[in-house]
Amino acid sequence: MYSPKLAEEIKKELENLRGAGKFKVEREIDGLQGSEVMLGGKKVLMFASNNYLGLANHPEIVKAAHAGLDSDGYGLSSVRFISGTQTIHRMLEKKLAAFLGVEDAILYSTNFMANLGFFASLVNDPLGAVGTPETPAVWKDVIYSDALNHASIIDAFKLCDRTHLEKRIYPHKDLAALRTMLEADKTNPPAGLRNKIIVTDGVFSMEGDTADLAELVKIADEYGAMLFVDDAHAIGVLGATGAGTPDHCGVHGKIDVLTGTFGKALGGAVGGYVAGKAELIEFLRQKSRTYMFSNSVPPSVVMASMRAIDLLKEDPELLKMVHSNADFFRSGLENLGFKMLEGSHPIVPLMLGDAKVAQEMSKKLLERGVYVVGLWFPVVPEGQARLRFQISAAHSKEQLANALEIIKETGKELGLI
Ligand SMILES: Cc1ncc(COP(=O)(O)O)c(C=O)c1O
Repeated sequence: MYSPKLAEEIKKELENLRGAGKFKVEREIDGLQGSEVMLGGKKVLMFASNNYLGLANHPEIVKAAHAGLDSDGYGLSSVRFISGTQTIHRMLEKKLAAFLGVEDAILYSTNFMANLGFFASLVNDPLGAVGTPETPAVWKDVIYSDALNHASIIDAFKLCDRTHLEKRIYPHKDLAALRTMLEADKTNPPAGLRNKIIVTDGVFSMEGDTADLAELVKIADEYGAMLFVDDAHAIGVLGATGAGTPDHCGVHGKIDVLTGTFGKALGGAVGGYVAGKAELIEFLRQKSRTYMFSNSVPPSVVMASMRAIDLLKEDPELLKMVHSNADFFRSGLENLGFKMLEGSHPIVPLMLGDAKVAQEMSKKLLERGVYVVGLWFPVVPEGQARLRFQISAAHSKEQLANALEIIKETGKELGLI
């Protein structure tokens, strides 16, 4: 049993979180998640989910998941290299690779695990560098990372041995600053420099803005760097075919390493992947610990994920609808006079500045039937508190118009418009 002192310290820390307004309250949804959900016995409009295509509850996805259960069972009770690989796992990997225009893909239990697995296995592996107990092998991978990259990327760097990783953080989307860093390392390379890896989210989750991948591909080529893109919020959402930010930026198939999730637009359950060159994917199968020592993705999720990729092709209305809804909602908020961030992604942040105002507004909106997440420091920079609306193809224009009416009333009441 752990000591009473530790129990007291844990309780005190929880109180600190409450006192600092950082305590996260988990709201319990009763039943299915769609454009509306039941919260505490009340139906509310849902704007707090990454269910961009409305597939979390789509009859075709549910049917495919059932088919997976019937054909391949509930789970594999194993990791992939022991007895956890079924024909359908490889089918999904190949289908995904074709969709993304790359050679191969590897499934992970989540996008978080994919990011951890990729960086730790590549950076920590000597890959030909030879040493002895007296003079250990020297190598250094330099990582250039956007300041607003996701937590899983930040934690991935922590799994890398510090003797082999040098980290440079460039200000959000400041590609001139990135160039300056690459130029400095060209002129004066760190000892043992091996790989240069530029790391960015495709779409940034708090802002809904998009990395300039066309320019990043150019920069990576110019400086001989590898380009890594986490496309969690863009797979199934951006680009003419829904293949993500590379598709949107005109560099489909030209990204060295792409990671993403099945837990957002593509059905919303769980599951992640790394996609890229065949030898890199094979290397990850052999070396990546978050893949090798963690269970395979359940058959129901594998089958539903394949169906989600097919649905994007079969029903282009899904993609059109999420964007037409996002445009309708964003321009509705702009017309009401709210301060917005520029963008076209279904992540629509309404900027409020003050954390207390964001807290008050999200509380009032929920009371009035609009469920949206408020974000404030330390999740976003101080003074940039916001409400992050997430729009879905499942929303009807009528639901969006109703929400805009409620937001208007609440904004007026709080003196914001
Ligand atoms: C950019 C980004 N990467 C990775 C993840 C983690 O995805 P998963 O839930 O599949 O672990 C998220 C989830 O919020 C994300 O926004």
